[in-house]
Amino acid sequence: MSKPQHAMQELFSQEALARRVAELGAQISADYAGRDLVLMVVLGGAFIFAADLCRKITLECSLDFVRVASYGAGLESAGAIRLVQPPSHRIAGRDLLLVEDIVDTGLTMQWLLHYFRNQQTASVRFCTLIDKTERRQTDLVADYAGFSCKEGFLVGYGLDFSEQYRNLPAIYTLLDAADHAASPNP
Ligand code: PRP
Repeated sequence: MSKPQHAMQELFSQEALARRVAELGAQISADYAGRDLVLMVVLGGAFIFAADLCRKITLECSLDFVRVASYGAGLESAGAIRLVQPPSHRIAGRDLLLVEDIVDTGLTMQWLLHYFRNQQTASVRFCTLIDKTERRQTDLVADYAGFSCKEGFLVGYGLDFSEQYRNLPAIYTLLDAADHAASPNP
Protein backbone atom coordinates (compact mmCIF):
# COMPACT_ATOMS: atom_id res chain seq x y z
CA MET A 1 0.00 0.00 0.00
CA SER A 2 1.25 3.53 -0.74
CA LYS A 3 2.48 5.66 2.16
CA PRO A 4 -0.43 7.27 4.03
CA GLN A 5 -0.78 11.01 3.74
CA HIS A 6 -1.05 11.45 7.54
CA ALA A 7 1.46 10.41 10.21
CA MET A 8 0.08 7.52 12.23
CA GLN A 9 1.14 4.92 14.76
CA GLU A 10 -0.15 1.37 15.04
CA LEU A 11 -2.40 0.87 18.06
CA PHE A 12 -3.96 -2.57 17.46
CA SER A 13 -2.14 -4.91 15.09
CA GLN A 14 -3.81 -7.23 12.62
CA GLU A 15 -2.87 -10.16 14.85
CA ALA A 16 -4.29 -8.52 17.99
CA LEU A 17 -7.51 -7.69 16.15
CA ALA A 18 -7.86 -11.23 14.83
CA ARG A 19 -7.26 -12.72 18.30
CA ARG A 20 -9.74 -10.45 20.03
CA VAL A 21 -12.41 -10.84 17.35
CA ALA A 22 -12.12 -14.63 17.68
CA GLU A 23 -12.56 -14.32 21.47
CA LEU A 24 -15.63 -12.13 21.03
CA GLY A 25 -17.09 -14.59 18.52
CA ALA A 26 -16.60 -17.47 20.93
CA GLN A 27 -18.16 -15.55 23.81
CA ILE A 28 -21.16 -14.47 21.73
CA SER A 29 -21.61 -18.04 20.43
CA ALA A 30 -21.73 -19.34 24.00
CA ASP A 31 -24.03 -16.60 25.27
CA TYR A 32 -26.58 -16.83 22.44
CA ALA A 33 -26.82 -20.61 22.10
CA GLY A 34 -30.46 -21.53 21.49
CA ARG A 35 -31.48 -17.91 20.80
CA ASP A 36 -32.64 -16.24 17.58
CA LEU A 37 -29.63 -13.99 17.05
CA VAL A 38 -29.60 -11.08 14.61
CA LEU A 39 -26.34 -9.18 14.16
CA MET A 40 -27.45 -5.63 13.41
CA VAL A 41 -24.45 -3.97 11.81
CA VAL A 42 -24.20 -0.19 12.04
CA LEU A 43 -22.84 1.03 8.71
CA GLY A 44 -20.45 2.08 7.51
CA GLY A 45 -17.53 1.82 9.98
CA ALA A 46 -18.48 -1.59 11.39
CA PHE A 47 -18.45 -3.44 8.08
CA ILE A 48 -14.99 -4.98 8.42
CA PHE A 49 -15.35 -5.85 12.11
CA ALA A 50 -18.77 -7.39 11.46
CA ALA A 51 -17.49 -9.41 8.51
CA ASP A 52 -14.75 -10.93 10.66
CA LEU A 53 -16.89 -11.30 13.79
CA CYS A 54 -19.78 -13.11 12.09
CA ARG A 55 -17.36 -15.72 10.75
CA LYS A 56 -16.21 -16.44 14.31
CA ILE A 57 -19.77 -17.02 15.51
CA THR A 58 -20.56 -20.70 15.38
CA LEU A 59 -24.36 -20.34 15.69
CA GLU A 60 -26.95 -19.88 13.01
CA CYS A 61 -27.63 -16.17 12.96
CA SER A 62 -28.94 -13.47 10.64
CA LEU A 63 -27.25 -10.30 9.52
CA ASP A 64 -28.96 -7.00 8.91
CA PHE A 65 -27.67 -3.48 8.39
CA VAL A 66 -28.67 -0.01 9.48
CA ARG A 67 -27.21 3.39 8.83
CA VAL A 68 -27.72 6.46 10.97
CA ALA A 69 -27.10 10.12 10.28
CA SER A 70 -26.44 12.67 12.96
CA TYR A 71 -26.72 16.39 12.87
CA GLY A 72 -24.70 18.09 15.57
CA ALA A 73 -22.15 20.74 16.26
CA GLY A 74 -19.50 20.59 13.57
CA LEU A 75 -18.46 17.07 12.70
CA GLU A 76 -19.31 15.59 16.08
CA SER A 77 -22.17 13.17 16.42
CA ALA A 78 -23.68 15.02 19.35
CA GLY A 79 -26.84 16.20 17.64
CA ALA A 80 -30.13 14.71 16.56
CA ILE A 81 -29.84 11.22 15.14
CA ARG A 82 -32.07 9.57 12.58
CA LEU A 83 -32.14 6.23 10.86
CA VAL A 84 -31.42 6.70 7.17
CA GLN A 85 -31.30 2.96 6.41
CA PRO A 86 -33.71 0.91 8.51
CA PRO A 87 -33.40 -2.86 8.99
CA SER A 88 -34.51 -4.96 6.03
CA HIS A 89 -35.77 -8.00 7.91
CA ARG A 90 -38.18 -8.90 10.69
CA ILE A 91 -36.78 -8.11 14.11
CA ALA A 92 -39.82 -8.48 16.39
CA GLY A 93 -39.32 -11.27 18.90
CA ARG A 94 -35.66 -11.73 18.00
CA ASP A 95 -32.39 -11.21 19.90
CA LEU A 96 -30.57 -8.23 18.44
CA LEU A 97 -26.88 -7.65 18.89
CA LEU A 98 -25.87 -4.25 17.53
CA VAL A 99 -22.38 -4.31 16.06
CA GLU A 100 -20.36 -1.07 16.07
CA ASP A 101 -16.78 -0.20 15.26
CA ILE A 102 -16.50 2.47 17.94
CA VAL A 103 -18.52 3.97 20.77
CA ASP A 104 -17.24 7.44 21.56
CA THR A 105 -19.70 9.91 23.14
CA GLY A 106 -22.17 7.01 23.26
CA LEU A 107 -24.96 9.14 21.80
CA THR A 108 -25.38 7.07 18.64
CA MET A 109 -25.55 3.80 20.56
CA GLN A 110 -27.88 5.25 23.18
CA TRP A 111 -30.24 6.33 20.41
CA LEU A 112 -30.04 2.93 18.67
CA LEU A 113 -30.70 0.99 21.88
CA HIS A 114 -33.74 3.14 22.60
CA TYR A 115 -35.00 2.77 19.02
CA PHE A 116 -34.67 -1.01 18.91
CA ARG A 117 -36.02 -1.58 22.41
CA ASN A 118 -39.25 -0.05 21.14
CA GLN A 119 -39.56 -2.58 18.29
CA GLN A 120 -40.88 -5.61 20.25
CA THR A 121 -37.47 -7.28 20.08
CA ALA A 122 -36.76 -10.11 22.52
CA SER A 123 -33.50 -8.47 23.61
CA VAL A 124 -31.14 -5.73 22.46
CA ARG A 125 -27.47 -5.60 23.41
CA PHE A 126 -24.39 -4.20 21.73
CA CYS A 127 -20.89 -5.18 20.78
CA THR A 128 -18.31 -2.55 19.95
CA LEU A 129 -14.81 -3.20 18.74
CA ILE A 130 -13.48 -0.03 20.39
CA ASP A 131 -14.86 1.44 23.58
CA LYS A 132 -13.38 4.95 23.66
CA THR A 133 -14.07 6.65 26.95
CA GLU A 134 -12.73 10.18 27.16
CA ARG A 135 -15.65 11.94 25.46
CA ARG A 136 -18.42 9.69 26.81
CA GLN A 137 -21.66 11.56 27.48
CA THR A 138 -23.79 8.60 28.52
CA ASP A 139 -23.57 5.88 31.14
CA LEU A 140 -23.60 3.06 28.59
CA VAL A 141 -21.67 -0.09 29.43
CA ALA A 142 -20.80 -2.28 26.46
CA ASP A 143 -22.13 -5.83 26.55
CA TYR A 144 -19.11 -6.85 24.48
CA ALA A 145 -16.07 -4.64 23.84
CA GLY A 146 -13.00 -5.60 21.89
CA PHE A 147 -10.63 -2.96 23.21
CA SER A 148 -10.92 0.04 25.49
CA CYS A 149 -8.97 3.20 24.91
CA LYS A 150 -9.16 6.64 26.36
CA GLU A 151 -8.56 8.98 23.47
CA GLY A 152 -7.11 9.52 20.02
CA PHE A 153 -8.32 9.73 16.46
CA LEU A 154 -8.32 6.13 15.25
CA VAL A 155 -8.30 4.93 11.66
CA GLY A 156 -8.17 1.60 9.89
CA TYR A 157 -10.12 -1.68 10.00
CA GLY A 158 -13.26 0.22 8.98
CA LEU A 159 -12.56 3.46 10.85
CA ASP A 160 -12.07 6.49 8.66
CA PHE A 161 -10.78 10.00 8.50
CA SER A 162 -12.92 11.77 5.89
CA GLU A 163 -13.59 8.37 4.26
CA GLN A 164 -9.85 7.63 4.03
CA TYR A 165 -8.03 4.70 5.66
CA ARG A 166 -11.01 2.35 6.20
CA ASN A 167 -9.11 -0.35 4.29
CA LEU A 168 -5.99 -0.35 6.48
CA PRO A 169 -5.76 -3.85 7.97
CA ALA A 170 -4.75 -2.68 11.48
CA ILE A 171 -5.90 0.23 13.67
CA TYR A 172 -3.74 3.33 13.92
CA THR A 173 -3.77 6.58 15.88
CA LEU A 174 -3.36 9.69 13.76
CA LEU A 175 -0.38 11.47 15.28
CA ASP A 176 -1.22 15.01 14.22
CA ALA A 177 -4.42 14.67 16.24
CA ALA A 178 -4.55 18.38 17.07
CA ASP A 179 -5.34 18.98 13.41
CA HIS A 180 -8.43 16.80 13.81
CA ALA A 181 -9.57 18.31 17.11
CA ALA A 182 -12.97 19.21 15.69
CA SER A 183 -13.72 15.55 15.08
CA PRO A 184 -11.71 13.25 17.38
CA ASN A 185 -13.62 10.12 16.24
CA PRO A 186 -16.05 10.03 14.77
C1 PRP B 1 -19.00 6.43 14.15
C2 PRP B 1 -19.23 5.05 14.70
C3 PRP B 1 -20.51 5.21 15.47
C4 PRP B 1 -20.45 6.64 15.96
C5 PRP B 1 -20.01 6.66 17.39
O1 PRP B 1 -19.71 6.58 12.97
O2 PRP B 1 -19.35 4.09 13.67
O3 PRP B 1 -21.65 4.99 14.67
O4 PRP B 1 -19.49 7.31 15.14
O5 PRP B 1 -19.91 7.96 17.86
P1 PRP B 1 -20.62 8.46 19.18
O6 PRP B 1 -20.45 7.42 20.23
O7 PRP B 1 -19.90 9.73 19.53
O8 PRP B 1 -22.07 8.71 18.86
P2 PRP B 1 -19.46 7.77 11.94
O9 PRP B 1 -20.49 8.84 12.18
O10 PRP B 1 -18.03 8.19 11.98
O11 PRP B 1 -19.81 7.10 10.57
P3 PRP B 1 -19.15 5.81 9.88
O12 PRP B 1 -19.62 4.62 10.66
O13 PRP B 1 -19.72 5.83 8.52
O14 PRP B 1 -17.66 5.97 9.90
